[in-house]
Amino acid sequence: MAAAREHWGSRFGFIMAAAGSAVGLGNIWKFPYETGANGGGAFLLLYLLFIVIFGASLILAEMVLGRASGRNPVGAFRLLGGGAWPGVGYLGVFTGFVILSFYIVIAGWTVAYMGFMLDGSLMSSTPEEIGAQFGGFISGGVTPVVLAGLFMAATVAVVLGGIGKGIERASKLLMPVLFLLLLVLIARAVSLPGAGEGIRFFLVPDWSKVTGATVTSAIGQAFFSLSLGMGALITYGSYLPKSTPMPGSAAIIVGLDTMVAVLAGFMILPAVFAYSLDPAAGPGLTFVTLPVVFSQMPAGTVFGFVFFALLFVAALTSAVSLLEVVVTYLVDETPLTRRQAALGAGLVCFGLGVPSSLSQGAVDIQVFGMDFLSAAAALTDLLLPIGGLLTALFVGWKLGPKALALVTDEGRQAFPLAHVWLFILRFVAPIGIAYVLISGLI
Ligand code: PHE
Repeated sequence: MAAAREHWGSRFGFIMAAAGSAVGLGNIWKFPYETGANGGGAFLLLYLLFIVIFGASLILAEMVLGRASGRNPVGAFRLLGGGAWPGVGYLGVFTGFVILSFYIVIAGWTVAYMGFMLDGSLMSSTPEEIGAQFGGFISGGVTPVVLAGLFMAATVAVVLGGIGKGIERASKLLMPVLFLLLLVLIARAVSLPGAGEGIRFFLVPDWSKVTGATVTSAIGQAFFSLSLGMGALITYGSYLPKSTPMPGSAAIIVGLDTMVAVLAGFMILPAVFAYSLDPAAGPGLTFVTLPVVFSQMPAGTVFGFVFFALLFVAALTSAVSLLEVVVTYLVDETPLTRRQAALGAGLVCFGLGVPSSLSQGAVDIQVFGMDFLSAAAALTDLLLPIGGLLTALFVGWKLGPKALALVTDEGRQAFPLAHVWLFILRFVAPIGIAYVLISGLI
């Protein structure tokens, strides 16, 4: 069975697919609004800190578990650890499910916005009208649900095709294009009159705005953005041949993901200030602010359409990785075929996405005092660091020195920082993550 497992076509292909998983709505939609709502520069600094001290090491830890076991998250923890450890894998599969359920809702919005850009309906509007159109659209009921369903169908279609061709080929083509477009849009945004205030907000920390909740959001964002703590990288790593070295790939993935998030901040926050919009507007920030920017720039219709199309594709490669975690689990562990697993999981996940979509104004669906979508997102911000903490303990202590053998493929691959990596997994990550989670809760 293991011999028949599909492999990535190349190391570059794997890196682009993993970067495709990491770079998504988390970077371009979530990061700017979280930064806006959490005091700007201070949030940026905390986010970067968490990426450097835990993120990179944990990405590598997950890849090691995947490559060494050639299994889904549950199977990987069972094979390498046994006992209660597969529970960490189950937690990951569950978390992936929750994320995907609200992810398709936001991704569906990007589809609608491609349409709004094409028909030019936002182009002559004021910022207030653009804001009102967003509110009207997301609370509209049926349309957003249908679009989430279509997006889910597109995700399922890619996953049905398997690992290599669909995901890998698309990522290799689309990631560089996305990056180029971001640069063009940033150049426009930072040259707007009044943009300086936004740049200052983004770069200069205001520590008076930082609370326990800010710190928890920053760690949640770091994990979410890196696709970390739920087994996505275990899953993608499980399709790596043993001969592929990993530390360099992990560094590139982390670098690309962080760069896109920071660039998205430079694209959106200056524009928010230039048009005197509220940086703490929350999830709607991207869908209100960017159309304002597009309505002002020459050929804004074209840029706007292409931007939302690319955001759609970035979201697609991330959603594919989320579904792939569930599908790889089902295919490895149950008699289901890839086809049955992808269709079944896609359908159930869409079902969970419906209340998320409706909770945006159409129907009052509250959980823990939050609308359903926000509650799902908040739960994610908690579950991912917990998954990461347990993964660090597993690799650092349960595997221990064996992890050094696995990461270097029994000494065949060089990794000069191996001992630093293990030290981080043993001490820095568990203590740091636990401290942040506890201080955020009390
Ligand atoms: N990293 C993705 C993003 O930033 C979201 C994601 C989380 C994807 C976890 C896979 C696993 O949009």
